[in-house]
Amino acid sequence: MLCRTCQETNKAEQIFHNHCIAEPVVLKEPMADSREIRPVKHLKGSPKIPGDKSISHRALILGALANGKTEILHLLDSADVNSTWACLEALGVSIKKHGHKIWVQGQGLNSLQQATSQLDCGNSGTTMRLLMGLLAGQNFDSVLTGDSSLSKRPMKRVAEPLFFMGADIKLKDDNFAPVRIKGHPLKAINYPLEIASAQVKSAIMLAALFCPETTKLSGLIHSRDHSERMFELFGANIKTNQTEIAITGNQSLMPRDLKVPGDPSTAAFWMAAAAIVPGSEIELCDISLNPTRLGFLRALEKMGAHIETEIASAGPEPTGHIRIKYAELQAISVHSDEIPSLIDEIPILAIVCTQAHGTSEIRGAEELKVKESDRLGAIAQNLQAMGAKLDLLPDGFRITGPQKLNGAQIQTHDDHRIAMAFSIAALIAKGPTQILNPECVSISYPHFYNALRDLSQ
Ligand code: S3P
Repeated sequence: MLCRTCQETNKAEQIFHNHCIAEPVVLKEPMADSREIRPVKHLKGSPKIPGDKSISHRALILGALANGKTEILHLLDSADVNSTWACLEALGVSIKKHGHKIWVQGQGLNSLQQATSQLDCGNSGTTMRLLMGLLAGQNFDSVLTGDSSLSKRPMKRVAEPLFFMGADIKLKDDNFAPVRIKGHPLKAINYPLEIASAQVKSAIMLAALFCPETTKLSGLIHSRDHSERMFELFGANIKTNQTEIAITGNQSLMPRDLKVPGDPSTAAFWMAAAAIVPGSEIELCDISLNPTRLGFLRALEKMGAHIETEIASAGPEPTGHIRIKYAELQAISVHSDEIPSLIDEIPILAIVCTQAHGTSEIRGAEELKVKESDRLGAIAQNLQAMGAKLDLLPDGFRITGPQKLNGAQIQTHDDHRIAMAFSIAALIAKGPTQILNPECVSISYPHFYNALRDLSQ
């Protein structure tokens, strides 16, 4: 038998060696880093919302391809966007920070240079997928790597349409990073998107810039449209209608000055908090009100939340203010065609559903299993840890509310949106909640816990 303390054979066939009992048991693993969140009376205030993550990535990339200097205000300063920044620098792009301004010195479509090492995309799926499109048509080779979470996420969905354009890309086990790209001349394609993914769509759009002809995308094109808007802003020849996106290749992009609006997926955590913590009232200013991102706001409205929105600027990205107050909520059903407009908000929507009257059902969300973590699994695991009941479905979940939540230990799986969603759940739980590996919020919202503290006072 093995001694439970020293793990060596104990010939006496006892669970501890006699000499081991006297020795203190040393834990081999250090205690996991964690943060305690306690219930609050209410939340009040107007937290400053960092820049939109999707728009920030695209602003850096298009700035790098433009002919001249692009100035960006309110770029998201977070780990994911820093991954795109570092990869572009490794490809020879000069990016400088001057106070609140970021300057990207673009030198035209054909100015990127081979990186001297592998390009580390960190945890960022957007960095890896968009760079696959950007790098496929270069006259040099590249290797894209990522952390352990990103290395488990599917990349074939991007490689496949790029193959049709003539790209030479090798994936580990035919689907995963590292992504080995042999730069190769590309040709335009007519491609019906089979997955409503803005990352796949944007990768093809970037590759299309390096083709001599016009690339046409049809099918499931109705995911977030920041690439379409930004291509237009930078003067690219792009035509979009309800059924098709057409991008003319080999054109030059004009540098632009732009301000990144606040991220609606980040604002969603405070909208949810105001909606479920009695007596709360929160104002969120300068948030992107792009219709392709408003699924969560619309869902809260349907549930009976007290929300006012005010448009402050129409374009190129509609931006405005959101005021939200606590109100009793009713259950909601969300179907597959609505999923792209709230794909990143489903973890926090699950928390809101636990407080709504009736049975909420979210379907068509199987994509959540291949996000930064298996988010459907993480939602179920952590809600159950808090004592809530839910039916986990292959493509979503069913939750009947309102339910009482208990403080618990939350497994974030190093996923920023799981950490933030369950920090909000902790505000209405009975007793304290421990968020494990809480600093993963730095992927999209490094100051999340400070903002939470300020709103709780
Ligand atoms: C993003 C698109 C979405 C979203 C991700 C960011 C983007 O992914 O979940 O956080 O910036 O294009 P999919 O389009 O792959 O669903």
